[in-house]
Amino acid sequence: MKMRILLVCLGNICRSPAAEGVLREKARERGLKLTIDSAGTGGWHAGDPPDARMTKAAARRGYDLSYQRARQVAFSDFYEFDYLLAMDLSNHTDLLDLAPPNRTCDIRLFLDFAEGDERETPDPYYGGADGFECVLDLIEKGASGFLDYLEDESA
Ligand code: 4NP
Repeated sequence: MKMRILLVCLGNICRSPAAEGVLREKARERGLKLTIDSAGTGGWHAGDPPDARMTKAAARRGYDLSYQRARQVAFSDFYEFDYLLAMDLSNHTDLLDLAPPNRTCDIRLFLDFAEGDERETPDPYYGGADGFECVLDLIEKGASGFLDYLEDESA
């Protein structure tokens, strides 16, 4: 079955667009056909492109985020995706609070699939340039870990 994955952060302009771009590229490299999208629990940035600092940092690593536009998590997402992957614990709690009782998706923390002790991808929005690099390092680990998990599950 073609898995459908939604990456979720707060604003959908920094972390989840980067996670969408990285996961898309790593899935392509492995020949995995996945449906990948991202959204924010908040709607303040709906329609905006990703933060320019993240777009540039991601482009330096070969990930194109320029086509993306922010959107808020929708009710239908809880049925139309197999996995909603939260970037931090507060996103995870917000998704569980929003989720209808008969949802058909799994709601997980993105970094729970990665090697290492970090569980949260911190919000780089108010920080300096190295925040974006740290976030991309974590996201690359998270994306590889999640794809390893999917490949093991389907083996
Ligand atoms: P993100 O970062 O959740 O990684 O997209 C944020 C971007 C903007 C805001 C919060 C988080 N904001 O409050 O505007």
